[in-house]
This record gives sequence, structure tokens and C-alpha cells, in this order.
Amino acid sequence: MPAENDIGNRPALEHVRLTVNGRLFEAEVEPRCHLGDFLRHDLKLTGTHIGCEHGVCGACTVIVDGAPVRSCLMFAGQANGATVTTIEGLAAPDGTLHPIQQAFWDRHGLQCGFCTPGMMMTIKAVLADSPDADEAAIRDAISGNLCRCTGYETIVDAALDAARAMRGGV
Ligand code: FES
Ligand code: FES
Repeated sequence: MPAENDIGNRPALEHVRLTVNGRLFEAEVEPRCHLGDFLRHDLKLTGTHIGCEHGVCGACTVIVDGAPVRSCLMFAGQANGATVTTIEGLAAPDGTLHPIQQAFWDRHGLQCGFCTPGMMMTIKAVLADSPDADEAAIRDAISGNLCRCTGYETIVDAALDAARAMRGGV
């Protein structure tokens, strides 16, 4: 006889309540649904990109309770009660670009853009922890974010520009 949760071979749904980009969301999710799919499919926040789906490429990186997280490696249910920031939460409500976005724009820190949301979220997290992060620290921080296009130089330049701007420099 099947367990109550296995009727029809469908797992019981989990209730998840989390704050994303300052908005509170509640939903019922399948236990196997990872946070990246939940953000994209349920919340329609498609700025988070899904690449490898096994923790290698970093494209899916979002910030969960202040730490960069590969959203393909976290179940949506595990984010219950968390505060999440995605790429959609970077710019100001009036559309003014975040200094990281502005620096990517100024420095041509992207080409195809597939890695860009994850790259920016990783940089945001490292600069929150280390506002004075130097080139070595930036390179170390983004070493888990793969980019097939840029050769990384312009991304590092953008991150250093952003760090300066966020410290109040020019
Ligand atoms: Fe998550 Fe590649 S899609 S690390
Ligand atoms: Fe294309 Fe990074 S800009 S993968």
C-alpha cells in the first residue's frame, strides 16, 4: 500500500515562503524543484540563467541570506524563510543601474550575456563582504563562474570599477 505521500507516484508538495527582491512570495512546490527553476518558472524571474544544472558553471548564482548560492543545487523548499536577491533585484526601482551593472556596461563586461547574471551576483556578494577586494580577490571570487566569451579581463575591470564606485570613489 502506498504511503500517503506517494499516491499516484506524486510527491507531496512543500509550502515555501520566502522574500525575493524585497517581495514576499508563498507557493506550493515539488520537493525536487530546485530554487533556480522555482525562480524562473514559478516567479517568472527569468534573469537567473540555468546552464549546467549541476553546480559547475555558476550561471544560476543568486544571493540567499547574503551568500552567493548556486540555485541549481538548492531545493526551493530549502529556501523556505530565506531572503533571496536575483539579478532583477539589482537595479533601483526607478531603473537606475546598480554600480555593478553600470560598470559592466561601461567596461563591456559581457558578450552573449549568459554568464552575466550569475557573475554579477557573485561580485555583489564578494563586494558586500570585502569592499576593498583587489584583482586577486575578484578573480578568486569569480573562479567558479564560467564565461565562454569575454576572457574575463573586462569582467574583472568592471568588478574593480564597481568596487571603487561603491566605496564612493570615481
Ligand atoms: Fe547552476 Fe550551472 S546551472 S552551476
Ligand atoms: Fe558569454 Fe560570459 S558573456 S558566457
